[in-house]
Amino acid sequence: MVQITLIQPSGASLQLDVPEGWSLMQAAVKNGIDGIVAECGGSCVCATCHVYVQQERFAELPPPGEDELELLDEVKAERRPNSRLSCQIKAAPELNGLIVTIPEYQT
Ligand code: FES
Repeated sequence: MVQITLIQPSGASLQLDVPEGWSLMQAAVKNGIDGIVAECGGSCVCATCHVYVQQERFAELPPPGEDELELLDEVKAERRPNSRLSCQIKAAPELNGLIVTIPEYQT
């Protein structure tokens, strides 16, 4: 299991134990986390699973693919340098303890 902390726009945080290989989106949806809409179910076409990754650890993530980069232009909340789509972030041991913040809105 990989421990990931999700922070809501309100500041409330929740720590999830995410099975290795699951996306952060899958874990958030499975746990009923508000703010991760994931309309496309992880097919990388909806941009409603946007998150802000902890700045200090952003470079530890595998880089986004072309599809994700293009789709990040479609996110509804502000796109920031640490924006990623949570369906494209797979839980891996090296990400243990990662903190991601959910934007104010997704649609
Ligand atoms: S769930 Fe649709 S792009 Fe991530």
